[in-house]
Amino acid sequence: MSKVVLRCENVYKQYELRAGPLEVLKGVSFELNEGELLAIVGISGSGKTTLLNLLYGIDVVTSGQILLDGKILTDLSKDEFRNFRRDNFGMIFQEFYLIPSMTAIENVMVPLIIAGKSEKLALTKAYKLLESVEMRPMANKLPSQLSNGQKQRIAIARAIANNPRMLICDEPSRALDTALGDEIMDLIENLIEKENISVIMTTHDPEIAARADRVLIIRDGKLVEEKIKDREAFDFKAAKEIYRNPIDKNQDQNEKVSEVISETHKKPKKKKQVKRKKK
Ligand SMILES: Nc1ncnc2c1ncn2[C@@H]1O[C@H](COP(=O)(O)OP(=O)(O)O)[C@@H](O)[C@H]1O
Ligand SMILES: [Mg+2]
Repeated sequence: MSKVVLRCENVYKQYELRAGPLEVLKGVSFELNEGELLAIVGISGSGKTTLLNLLYGIDVVTSGQILLDGKILTDLSKDEFRNFRRDNFGMIFQEFYLIPSMTAIENVMVPLIIAGKSEKLALTKAYKLLESVEMRPMANKLPSQLSNGQKQRIAIARAIANNPRMLICDEPSRALDTALGDEIMDLIENLIEKENISVIMTTHDPEIAARADRVLIIRDGKLVEEKIKDREAFDFKAAKEIYRNPIDKNQDQNEKVSEVISETHKKPKKKKQVKRKKK
């Protein structure tokens, strides 16, 4: 029997808007097994990012429980969660969220240094990580000098720097074309095999979802396991249209994500060995 890594129990999430409460998640329950690639699909606005943000602790549940390896995350304070997140989760965002003033190698070093590694060790490990995503030649480039596919590779290297228990990916291929999206999926599948990592990923893209071990559909605030007949009920064609359209910005959400990223991936204080461009 496979081991359960993550468990979501009857999770509700409600946003208080001026016009009244907006119930986005209405009793979400699921399990993620060790070594599994689980895809969550749903049309735009169905609550995919909301759910992942709850897992990563960017936002808090209205009610319900989230457990990782049996530990109840929804009981942790903000500070406790920050430490826990650093040790257990890697997250990949559709908009990468690399630190723009830092080079690729520095972006990857940050979580290592925060986790207490010496700069020398962090540098060595960061080079290895860049190698594993085939980005070593880009080590000294700033994010602005990289393509979207390259940025996502660097973001993956950063996400796995501290050997997380699981990887949370919010539409990892959304800003990429099909071929690049496939490459990113190859990388993620490789990680599952090599690093004993479990992955939860949202996507609009049916071809990306098709690569998962299991697909859950988010609909009316609930998750339902995809069965063959549901595949027809889920309008993949419409979803694909939305997928191809430009990313709609949710200002509030983006700000929150940026805040958490900069908290989690604070700039290291000492920076001797790595040269980087000054603005
Ligand atoms: N911080 C927020 N405040 C208010 N409403 C939000 C917030 N974040 C998301 N929403 C709303 O929740 C719904 C689900 O959004 P989201 O989780 O981003 O969907 P998806 O990722 O599936 O496109 C949308 O109606 C969105 O406008
Ligand atoms: Mg989203």
